Amino acid sequence: MNLNLKDFFATDPQRFEHFSQSIAIETNASQHSIFCDLSKNLIDRSMEFTLIARAARAGLEVKRDTMFAGEAINNTEGRSVSHVRLRDPADTEVRAVLDALLTYAEVIRADDSITDIVNIGIGGSDLGPAFAVRALDQFVNHKKRYHFVSNVDGHEMNAALRHCKPASTLFIIASKTFTTAETMLNASTARAWFIANGGTADGSSQLDTSRHFCAVTTNVAAATNFGINTTFGFWDWVGGRYSIWSAIGLSLAIAIGDKGFRAFLAGAHAMDKHFKTAPLAQNLPVRLGLLDVYYRNDLKFTSRNVAPYSSALGRLPAYLQQLEMESNGKSVDKNGKPLAMSTSPVVWGEAGTNGQHAFFQMLHQGTDVIPVEFVAVKTPTFDAGIGFPMNTASQANQHKALLANALAQAQALMQGKADAGGHKNFAGNRPSTFILLDALTPETLGALIALYEHRVFTSGVLWGINSFDQFGVELGKVLAKDIEPRLANGDADGLDASTAGLLNIFYP
Ligand code: F6P
Repeated sequence: MNLNLKDFFATDPQRFEHFSQSIAIETNASQHSIFCDLSKNLIDRSMEFTLIARAARAGLEVKRDTMFAGEAINNTEGRSVSHVRLRDPADTEVRAVLDALLTYAEVIRADDSITDIVNIGIGGSDLGPAFAVRALDQFVNHKKRYHFVSNVDGHEMNAALRHCKPASTLFIIASKTFTTAETMLNASTARAWFIANGGTADGSSQLDTSRHFCAVTTNVAAATNFGINTTFGFWDWVGGRYSIWSAIGLSLAIAIGDKGFRAFLAGAHAMDKHFKTAPLAQNLPVRLGLLDVYYRNDLKFTSRNVAPYSSALGRLPAYLQQLEMESNGKSVDKNGKPLAMSTSPVVWGEAGTNGQHAFFQMLHQGTDVIPVEFVAVKTPTFDAGIGFPMNTASQANQHKALLANALAQAQALMQGKADAGGHKNFAGNRPSTFILLDALTPETLGALIALYEHRVFTSGVLWGINSFDQFGVELGKVLAKDIEPRLANGDADGLDASTAGLLNIFYP
């Protein structure tokens, strides 16, 4: 098979038009778009046709409709997978909880005595809000600081608390299960710090945990046990890595307000409608998901680089690592049978142009072909709050330089450059996808995340796996529980030689 991008363009004059599309992100309040150029990928129309036929054979449309209908497609845990409900304005059960959450968010937002919001959570209870608060910086209430503490490494909590005072801090304990070890330890440290600095935990003062701690969880009883009485619930049909749309988004809601959070949900809902109704050949999440499967299984690519050419989207690769690898990093099918094909690639990346000065060397001249996904924003939104008029010439120039670099990198990967000496040779023909948001707003960010969710759903269906459980994270947790007391007593009994050797170094 001759997979040559230059030949593909030469033989198909309409290639760009065919392999690109714009999705309208229309909400009641705004009109935006997400454009995607797939034309620099190693695929032609006939291969695309074959992939769409594969999707049809896998029953993708029926399975998608089954998810939207709320059937228990997470078969290993007997749960439905209904995060799409969280952004459906017609869902009255969800709306009632959302209204209460946003009322609280607005109260905190308007309360200038609260200057620091500390979100304590990990995985889906951290990555989503941390990513989105940074991404929507231009929409954030900057009278407050937002801290995201996730790691069990106490230095992270230490660094956040350095900026905080108990009277002006709100701690949000974000945990779907309210049992996650890291989050429980960080929450206990936060409470101990709060009490050590004059706070109470029995309701006996204004400076009480009941006013300065709240929880977002499906396990309200455990939060109450911890001594928290302001709790916002959600449902077991919301997976951790799909929970940014639920009460887990509280820190984001405080940051961008009721209006901003609803706009974020509306943008995702617009993408849901696209995924639900567009024919497979014109369905962007489907096209991307099929390409992922084709790259992984037919071309045997092992990783995909995500290159947001937007500093605000700098946490996108980390967010996608959980979304894609925790969902589709499986080696058995839905029924537990070993799979005959490979599944999730390694997803990795860093914001451009920084990545150009780090790993792009390898993307251009390394021995492995790694598809690159550029994500850029057409119109910047510099704010005037820094004592500099909005969108000055120098800021506009910087944005042009940023976009020029993104385009040039995609071009260089494809075109390459011949050099007889070898060292300066660029083989070219390296594939990339280019996603362009017209502007980075709550609506487009919501739509972008939903686009990725549905793409992961698509590849999961093609692989025949359950994308909604994560048993692979359990074993390490169990073993950590066994090792922790050994660090205190030095007992290496029954351990393998390497673990025992390391334990001996740690102890005492
Ligand atoms: O990493 C495993 C995991 O269960 C994720 O799926 C989840 O997002 C994270 O831990 C945090 O879980 P919780 O919100 O229950 O604390």
